[in-house]
Amino acid sequence: MTNLKDEVLSRRTFAIISHPDAGKTTLTEQLLLFGGAIRAAGTVKGKKTGKFATSDWMEIEKQRGISVTSSVMAFDYDGYRVNILDTPGHQDFSEDTYRTLMAVDSAVMIIDSAKGIEAQTIKLFKVCRMRGIPIFTFINKLDRQGREPLEVLEELEEVLGIESYPMNWPIGMGKEFLGIYDRHYNRIEQFRVGDEERFLPLDENGELIGDAELKSSGLYQQALEDVQLLNEAGNDFSEEKVANGTLTPVFFGSALTNFGVQTFLETYLQFAPSPQPRKSEEGPVDPVKEEFSGFIFKIQANMNPAHRDRIAFVRICSGKFERGMNVTLSRTGKSIKLSQSTQFLADDRSTVNEAVSGDIIGLYDTGTYQIGDTIVEGKENIQYEKLPQFTPELFMRVTAKNVMKQKHFHKGIHQLVQEGAIQLYKTLRTEDIIIGAVGQLQYEVFEHRMKNEYNVDVIMENIGGKIARWIENEADVTESMSSSRSILVKDRHDRLVFLFENDFAMRWFQDKNPDIKLYSLL
Ligand code: G4P
Repeated sequence: MTNLKDEVLSRRTFAIISHPDAGKTTLTEQLLLFGGAIRAAGTVKGKKTGKFATSDWMEIEKQRGISVTSSVMAFDYDGYRVNILDTPGHQDFSEDTYRTLMAVDSAVMIIDSAKGIEAQTIKLFKVCRMRGIPIFTFINKLDRQGREPLEVLEELEEVLGIESYPMNWPIGMGKEFLGIYDRHYNRIEQFRVGDEERFLPLDENGELIGDAELKSSGLYQQALEDVQLLNEAGNDFSEEKVANGTLTPVFFGSALTNFGVQTFLETYLQFAPSPQPRKSEEGPVDPVKEEFSGFIFKIQANMNPAHRDRIAFVRICSGKFERGMNVTLSRTGKSIKLSQSTQFLADDRSTVNEAVSGDIIGLYDTGTYQIGDTIVEGKENIQYEKLPQFTPELFMRVTAKNVMKQKHFHKGIHQLVQEGAIQLYKTLRTEDIIIGAVGQLQYEVFEHRMKNEYNVDVIMENIGGKIARWIENEADVTESMSSSRSILVKDRHDRLVFLFENDFAMRWFQDKNPDIKLYSLL
């Protein structure tokens, strides 16, 4: 391997965010095709995670091998190593998505040109914003009739509160889509033409050279006017603003017909950041620092039903990973030899021997790791910043149907909680198990996995919507403050939590106990 710094600088690690159906799968596939990571479209996913119903999820279970390789994909392009992290499209798994976004250096946001900014996009965008990572926008499906591009741009700026800079601009759309006017490369990229005609150069005034046929088209003239308007009244391009996530470069194209995707990829690679210093409790850690370190942002169990294995996904934040190295798990101080590792090159899971900052590796896990764990080479103690946890809104009391299955039941719950699939709470005296979730589908997946992976039928008793509040001054809380309308429980870190029946119960509690300081998570 060449020197560490050059290796790290060649990494680009990002996630694609979008509302289901905007074209995430299609775009990912095209990118992989460019990288030579797959040979034919249609190989990435058997099912689209974006729109699955429960029954589909079970199908996905069967195809775990496929769905997992597609959750992290790496390929090489033009001297770069590109790592794409997939995010579940369904909103019930938004916690999972949030954690994934903690592991990337930039994000690509896909917008359906006919639909504009949709609900799920807004949510995911907010997380990227919170992290201050660069966001690149791909406005998709130009081969179909969509909304006026200026209108979509305006909506993007207004709804998301971010400045935009169109790197290119569509000439017509739908049946009359002729191509894109490329402001960045000063050329026209034509749609539906042979390769030799694909690019037409522009002169220094930004107009077509010679007597190209396109020149007489009203759509070209319209695009030219729009671009002039953007030049005069639009935002200036600023690399600094791109880097701190306050301006998004916008690209137009059609993922399905593979138009504008390569242009997007090449420009993206030019402006997207290489791995950045990462916040830890001890201060920022430089990605080119010699000692290896990383954190676990995802754990996926039983990916291969035949082997019942579990894989912890590690984002490398500094140094170089070498198979067989010894690391310390910061949470426990325990030393671990990393001998079984894997990386994710599209279709294929292969053993990884070396990887550097920015890369994602998978470690075979026998219950050692938890979401958010930091691992470091040598004895130094680093703890990377905590991963976001949501305040759940749905709660169920769960028990095993068959009392003889207690051991399996607890093992299943323990592992699914470690994976971050569900949140765990216990009542104080009786230690009844209450699980919390952000979305209903999480329960269905939980029930299904308990049965299929741990062989336990569970009884789930809905205890209704609750408002969960953690407590700043725990020492001042007494059990007598608990009631049927404000149940006192412990979370998995043994922190006290009140589960209030509703807003009214919470206000009533605060009136009676003004000294207790409550707070919510994300
Ligand atoms: P997702 O992962 O974001 O959920 O979206 P996905 O790529 O699965 O795309 C959703 C639908 O939009 C698919 O059609 C896909 O073919 C279509 N699509 C994606 N990009 C484009 C584009 O650039 N132009 C047009 N016209 N369509 C596009 P589907 O009918 O729902 O699925 P399928 O039956 O074709 O697989």
